[in-house]
Order: sequence, then structure tokens, then C-alpha cells
Amino acid sequence: MSLITPQINSDYVAAARCEGSHIFDRDGNSWIDGASGSIACSIGHAHPTVVQAMSEACQQTSFVYRTQFTNPEIERLSARLCERLGYAASFFVNSGSEAVETAMRSAQQYWRERGQGTKTRILSRRLSYHGSTIGSLSLSGHWPRRRSAGPLYGEPTQPTPYPFRAPKNDTLAAYGVACANELEREVQQLGQDNIAAFILEPIIGASGAAIVPPKEYMQRVRALCDQYDVLLIADEVLTGLGRTGNWLAMEHFGVKADIVCLGKGLNAGYFPISAVLVSADVYDHMANGSGAFELGHTHSNHPIGAAVGNAVLDVLEEERLVERAEWYGRGLKSKLKKVCSGHTIVGDVRGEGMLIGIELVDPTNWNNPFPPAFKTAARATQTAFERGLVIYPAAGFAGVLGGDAIIVAPPFNISEQATEQLVDRVDQTLASLSDAVFQQRRNTHAA
Ligand SMILES: Cc1ncc(COP(=O)(O)O)c(C=O)c1O
Repeated sequence: MSLITPQINSDYVAAARCEGSHIFDRDGNSWIDGASGSIACSIGHAHPTVVQAMSEACQQTSFVYRTQFTNPEIERLSARLCERLGYAASFFVNSGSEAVETAMRSAQQYWRERGQGTKTRILSRRLSYHGSTIGSLSLSGHWPRRRSAGPLYGEPTQPTPYPFRAPKNDTLAAYGVACANELEREVQQLGQDNIAAFILEPIIGASGAAIVPPKEYMQRVRALCDQYDVLLIADEVLTGLGRTGNWLAMEHFGVKADIVCLGKGLNAGYFPISAVLVSADVYDHMANGSGAFELGHTHSNHPIGAAVGNAVLDVLEEERLVERAEWYGRGLKSKLKKVCSGHTIVGDVRGEGMLIGIELVDPTNWNNPFPPAFKTAARATQTAFERGLVIYPAAGFAGVLGGDAIIVAPPFNISEQATEQLVDRVDQTLASLSDAVFQQRRNTHAA
């Protein structure tokens, strides 16, 4: 095959058709999409509202270039997002990685416009994923992905609160505040004149499987950013537009960022469109300063992507799917907790809304991670796949490339019946995985 796939010498199933929460191949096999693809397809596959909007958009304005034209769909999408989420302006790119790059450059431009051109550095956290371009990966604390790239521009330095492995003698609130105080220490060390922004995922996605920080952490981070003139960038590429049961995950903490990145939840997997939203303060300094925004891509502000974004918003609003993600996700998490309680290899079930992480641990070793060589998360994903379930692996977040988890994140409108099957297949997957890893443990000890 000439197509380059993630594991070049492996075979991949060709998906022939997708509908709702299911993916089908040519031979009639089907999978429940328990990961919404890559945690993107929030409204399910082949939703008629989006299909129709895309087709109409193609017939009207298939493409115009942003240096000469805007288009009605993109203006409408921008206005709707800004009004709903409380921001002043937005810009559209293709991928989440590009949204992060755009956020970085917007933050740097903001300080230039204010006559503080030395404020360029962006701080980030040691457990995080912000994308696969060199700039966004440089900010990312996703160590397995960083290892395959290089050289990168700097490293993430800030701690990511991780309640499951927090020091046991602290309250979670105190632990959260202590993590946030590291930001103050670093800003003082580097000098606030050099720091443009701090970027974080409000709830960790791919790099740690739905790790939720204590509220006090986020509130302290916001206060420190204000105190030291550091912009706060929320990377909501994965969490944005309802995944965690709120339109933005930052709402869980009652905190508002200065710049927000959106991606997967905006395009719901239908078309590559992602966005950056900025506060009135950021926008006004650009508009009243140089008046220029000199970055973007050929397909920025794309009319078909915009039609998709508007249709996704229509579906989320009309079918009240963000609300559903909250209450249905709560129910799903308790069902998963129940089946997981029967498996000693599960250390933690966490998350908010339809973003649920299940951390896999070695119960024979104080719930420490399994050795990385066991590839426990990858095996869990493969085992589930063989049982007709797609889940998302997360690895390398605890200790030296240890730490395994799976993410369950189905479309917000998954049916009751598919949910029952999903939970049952997670149960079967964990049972089969336990047998396999304990056998491997015994073999390792015997050798
Ligand atoms: C939080 C976060 N930011 C950025 C990205 C990068 O998005 P993309 O893969 O669309 O470039 C991802 C992708 O998983 C993500 O989860």
C-alpha cells in the first residue's frame, strides 16, 4: 500500500461507512465509536444537518481567499462563537496545532502592540498535548510524542495537577495551589518582562486521560496571570464545545482565559476547521495598534469549514447536546466505575461529561504503572478493537514513560443501546487485558 499509516507495516481496516456512533467496514463488521474518532465526532457520524450544510456550501462559495474576501458563513460563525463564549473576535485555521500556533503568535503580537516586545516566551506544563507542529509540540509535555521529534524549541516546565497521584498528606485544594505557585516562581525567575503567556488544557486529554485539576489550581493560575501580566491561553481543542458537559471546560472552574483554542468540538470531525478566540483587550490592542493580523493559512476562514461549524452549533443547540453531555456523561461514568470496580488493574476512573479516563495500574505493585514495555494502553485499545469498540489510548504520563490509561469519549448523542454495549465491551476488554498482563508479569518474574 502506498498510503503512509501510523504503523507503516501494519494492516488497517478500511472504513466503508459511518453512521451515528457506529463505523462499518466493507465486510459488514461494525465498531462502536467510543472515542468519537480522536475525541472529535461529538454529534456522531453523518448527521443530516451537517451533510446538507456542507453540500449547500460547496455549491455556493467553495473557496475565497481571506486577503480579498470574507464570506457570510464565517462571519456568522465568528459572531455566534464570540457571543456564546464571551469573546470579542476570532480567527479560523485548519487544525488544533495551527490554532495553538496562532494563539502563541497572537499573544506575542499583543505584547508588541503594547510596546513590550520582550514578552515572547510561552510557558506550558509537563503533562500536556498541544499539537504536532514544531511550535505546538515544543510546548507539549507528551513525552512519547516528543521523543520522535526534534530538535524542539524548549520544554514545558510547569507541573500539571494530577489528583490520583497527588501527595497524600495534602488536601487537593492545597496541592492545586502549590502547583499553581510554581508559575509564580518561574515568572519571577525568568522575569515577567520575558513572559507572554501560559498555556494549559483545562482538563487533560491525550497526554493523561481526563485529568481534572482542583478548582483552586485554576483560580490561582488566573490570579497569578493577572498579577504578573501574563496572558492565559486555554487549549480547548479537545474539550471545547461541550465535551466535558460545559461549552468550555474552563467553566468548571469559573475561570476565563484571554485566548481560547477550539478544534475537534468545532468541526466534530466533518471538516478541518479550528479556531482562536481572543478577549476584547487582546483584540482592541491589535485593532487599535498596528491594525494588522499577518498570519494565517491558505484555507483560513474557509467557507465550507464555516458552514460545518455553524451546522455543528445548530445541532448542539437544537438537540441540547451540551446539556446531554453533562447528565449522560455522569451516568456513563458511574456505569464505567461499576464495571471497573471488578478489575484490580483499574486505579482511577475520572473525567467530566463525555470525557472519561480509566487509568490502568499494577495492583501487585502498589498501584504503580505497569512497565512501559508491557504497552498496556496500546494493548487495551487493540483488545477493545477486536471486540468491536474504539477507545483512545494514553500512555507515558506517570514516571519515566510509564502510565497507561484509556479514554472513553463517545458522541454526545450515543443511544442507550450502544452505551450498554460499550460498557459491556469495556468490561470484556479489562478482563482479557488483566489475564494477559498478569501472565506477562509472571513470565517476567520467572525469567
Ligand atoms: C488539547 C489539544 N490541543 C491541540 C491538539 C492538536 O490538534 P490537531 O491534531 O488538530 O492538530 C490536540 C489533538 O489531539 C489536542 O488534544
